[in-house]
Amino acid sequence: MLADHSADAIWAHDLTKVYGKLTAVDHVEMEVPSGGVFGLLGPNGAGKTTIIKLLTGLTDLSAGEAQVAGYDVRRQPMQVKQRIGWVAAEVILDDDFSAIENLWLQAKLQRLTDWRPRAEQLLRYFDLTAREKDKVSTFSTGMRKKLEIALALLHQPSVIFMDEPTIGLDPGTRRMLWELITGVNKEFGITVLLTSHYIEEADALCNQIAIIDHGKFVATGAPSELKSKVRGDFIELDTTEQVTEAMLRAIPGISEVRTQGKTWVLRTSSAEEVLPRLLTHVDPRDVRRINVERPSLETVFLDLTGRKIDEDSGDVHDYRKFYATVRRARQ
Ligand SMILES: Nc1ncnc2c1ncn2[C@@H]1O[C@H](COP(=O)(O)OP(=O)(O)OP(=O)(O)O)[C@@H](O)[C@H]1O
Ligand SMILES: [Mg+2]
Repeated sequence: MLADHSADAIWAHDLTKVYGKLTAVDHVEMEVPSGGVFGLLGPNGAGKTTIIKLLTGLTDLSAGEAQVAGYDVRRQPMQVKQRIGWVAAEVILDDDFSAIENLWLQAKLQRLTDWRPRAEQLLRYFDLTAREKDKVSTFSTGMRKKLEIALALLHQPSVIFMDEPTIGLDPGTRRMLWELITGVNKEFGITVLLTSHYIEEADALCNQIAIIDHGKFVATGAPSELKSKVRGDFIELDTTEQVTEAMLRAIPGISEVRTQGKTWVLRTSSAEEVLPRLLTHVDPRDVRRINVERPSLETVFLDLTGRKIDEDSGDVHDYRKFYATVRRARQ
């Protein structure tokens, strides 16, 4: 007999995925109530996509158990698939088809009858009705993303998984998509699990967040709860070689000194109090850059891991590049 977690959209216990020597998802506990927007926030390689693959049945669990929409992902994969939608980080659209033809194809794949009213509703919601007969090859990146989400919603799932839904989009399009995702959750009543390594995105969209690093949840909670855990400000400081750790540690109000490449990361009681002291203890000529990080999800991650989430995420152009490659391959 399975334990009943049907009130939760997603429930997982000891969720684990091992690839050879690497534990990509490391004994994770998860509970996502129905109706919310849950965010997995973490740097490249943290295990976000792998968690989605485990929960959507795309890859087998190495250990643990999981239920999605009230069904066990291992024992009842078909019931799970009927109730979930999935928006991949990669492109899934057929460029040579129009928007409505892509929806038709999706309906065929899902064996949906009477899909048209739903398709038209979705096209209206995503403001694509005027372009429904145009080939997707003529669509902007934002329009493609909207159509991808529409495809995932066609069979009326109760849970939708979105892997990096706004990666590679410009800030304006990203914000437009945020509103649409919030709408999908509110107006369609669908539980959303999304992954991101954009802090503001997780903060703006999610009512619950799990911060993930090296396959482990290092913190979970509402964005405000997570932020309230970190007291004080962080000061980031780039200096010349003249500045040493001992000099920084001697400054009152600095409780911790870490280095990150050429940057010092100082935990302080209050940046306002510490900054003037800092500039008397350290010769201002030795300071190249100062940045104050107020309590934010970034400082939560910094606090827990000593690193920044967004650091070195050279992925911004990947999405467009990917589309370009696919388009070229099809020509
Ligand atoms: N099929 C696979 N075989 C071997 N290792 C894999 C496989 N898929 C993922 N991994 C590894 O598992 C780890 C987690 O990968 P995953 O794609 O889940 O990260 P992610 O958090 O989605 O990262 P990103 O932000 O870059 O998308 C990485 O170290 C990755 O190399
Ligand atoms: Mg990923």
